[in-house]
Amino acid sequence: MSEHVETRREGAALCLTLTRPEKKNALTGAMYDALTDALTAANKDDAIGAVLISGRGGVFCAGNDIGDFLKARPGEDSSPGWRFIQALPLLQKPLVAAVDGPAIGVGATLCFHCDLVYAAPSARFQMPFVDLAIVPEAASSLLVPLRFGMAKASEALLLAEPFDAAEAHRLGLVNQVVAADALFDHALAKAQALAAKPRAALLATRKLLRGDAAAVQARMREELRAFGEAVRSPEARAIFEAFLRRK
Ligand code: COA
Repeated sequence: MSEHVETRREGAALCLTLTRPEKKNALTGAMYDALTDALTAANKDDAIGAVLISGRGGVFCAGNDIGDFLKARPGEDSSPGWRFIQALPLLQKPLVAAVDGPAIGVGATLCFHCDLVYAAPSARFQMPFVDLAIVPEAASSLLVPLRFGMAKASEALLLAEPFDAAEAHRLGLVNQVVAADALFDHALAKAQALAAKPRAALLATRKLLRGDAAAVQARMREELRAFGEAVRSPEARAIFEAFLRRK
């Protein structure tokens, strides 16, 4: 459990809301654990037909808590972030995201594991791993080029260029751009529509659509090896410290 992840049921949809807007919904170990536990439980609960993830306060998620990169032991097998990432390809129920404001780092990469993504015009995606002297995670090094093509993937992952909701829609990450005040209800209606479908057919179709989970998991493990080394490097640590000191 985490005070910064709200978990509630809306009919057959499980709604997971990040509630740490004062830190732009940056994910702490406790938040990762709460999300992982919720996804794992959703797999086993027949009453849940779909999962909806969103952020409170006009921000989706500013990625991993940068302070935790310094304090905790990221990039290790037992780290909460790694457990969460591994839970994504193991999720059997459809995952829907409602993205408002910044979606940075894992806030962006988790969207590539979603079946449907709805975004407010304010959504701004960025994967600034290289700028932080670290490397991509959540199989984004595999999934971003697959979705965007190599040219755009290089802009997103090497240049770390941000892209807005309209661009994410054009690139096929976002299904629809929806006004901020209608976003949550719209995404919830879609999650509930999925949950109301014949369940076995829905889950089997989703599994077929998502393709080779083993390849995704293998890429995650490969990324973890590079990530674990990079995140502890003096260069990365200096960048994290500079971010935390910048005010
Ligand atoms: N980890 C820890 N704290 C974070 C954070 C993160 N990933 N993202 C934001 N915060 C904190 C800020 O330190 C600040 O805390 P403070 O008020 O105690 O100083 C607070 O959230 C508000 O952020 P701020 O930067 O003042 O808001 P902004 O509107 O100017 O910018 C962002 C918002 C998201 C663009 C900016 O905070 C940012 O770039 N965050 C880092 C994103 C990132 O690199 N994530 C890691 C990816 S691997």
